[in-house]
Amino acid sequence: MANKNLNQAKNAKKDEFYTQLVDIENELKHYKEHFKDKVVLCNCDDPRVSNFFHYFSYNFEKLGLKKLITTCYKNQERDLFSQNDSERAIWLEYNGDKNNNRVPDPDEIGINYFEGDGDFRSKECIELLKQADIVVTNPPFSLFREYVAQLIEYDKKFLIIGNVNATSYKEVFHLIKKEKLWLGASIHSGDREFGVPQDYPLNAAGFRVDEKGNKFIRVKGVRWFTNLDYKERHENLILFKKYTPEEYPKYDNYDAVNVDKTSDIPADYDGVMGVPITFLDKYNPEQFEIIGNEYDLNIEKGRGYINGKRMYSRIFIRRRQPTQYLQQEETLPLAAEEQAEYNIKK
Ligand SMILES: C[S@@+](CC[C@H](N)C(=O)[O-])C[C@H]1O[C@@H](n2cnc3c(N)ncnc32)[C@H](O)[C@@H]1O
Repeated sequence: MANKNLNQAKNAKKDEFYTQLVDIENELKHYKEHFKDKVVLCNCDDPRVSNFFHYFSYNFEKLGLKKLITTCYKNQERDLFSQNDSERAIWLEYNGDKNNNRVPDPDEIGINYFEGDGDFRSKECIELLKQADIVVTNPPFSLFREYVAQLIEYDKKFLIIGNVNATSYKEVFHLIKKEKLWLGASIHSGDREFGVPQDYPLNAAGFRVDEKGNKFIRVKGVRWFTNLDYKERHENLILFKKYTPEEYPKYDNYDAVNVDKTSDIPADYDGVMGVPITFLDKYNPEQFEIIGNEYDLNIEKGRGYINGKRMYSRIFIRRRQPTQYLQQEETLPLAAEEQAEYNIKK
């Protein structure tokens, strides 16, 4: 029991990562048209530290929002809060700037008290969820599956932060395959910095304290997960490589060829290909169809094998349009004069 409590406390600590404003701005700029007249809910956000609340309240008029609701989970960081009872959570409601100073002033923000602790799964939080059109936040990673399941159950639009590993969770992958969820526009590699509470155990690499004493840590594998459409995800991945059986061997236990790097996907292969999980960063649903992964294709021993050697985890894909029907420019970009000539001939 003591161990269980300790683990829960540890997980709760790991859930306290505060998203930086610049990362929110870089992502949100791809979705502006989706927010007009919409009710936005940030439901894992202490508004006193949440940059999500900051972003949406300061950009309320620019985005043309209808309402911003922000709910806060029970206080785990006493010093971040005022002297309120730490189990009692609050939620805020902002309906835009009333006095035309373009700043969300305290008297323009409605403060409401929850009966419970503000858990996103609680009845009172679900009532707020029902009012929302779009949910935007960085939810606790330890509850990511449940969090996504709830958004789907209530049929919400969402833009949330998670870890790329969550793409292989059975439930999440299933949504990706069905085109009900995809990766967002701005983060496809590298790491991102998050704020952490003052008492965060900082012996990890990538830790920084700024001049005001705020603490930060760099996190790898961060991605946005969304069901809001954006232009870039419909752009074709330009492919240069030609298929050869030597370079793209077949798996011993599944009828597909292995591709080690997304950029090496052959331009002229119409069968099923096993590609790295990071293919999802480049996935255009008009260009490729996702067939499945090892788990839902029930691949023997849970992995593709080549000559008895276990391969890395893969996503199995196939071109939507067989190569024989492709227009030339989809496989190789043409030089300007060639393109002009090609257009005339067409
Ligand atoms: C990764 S942090 C992100 C915080 C904030 N959204 C941000 O991006 O700066 C996740 C937050 O969810 C809160 N949280 C944990 N469990 C929760 C629950 N069951 N319901 C609602 N919020 C929860 C944590 O206290 C934490 O502040």
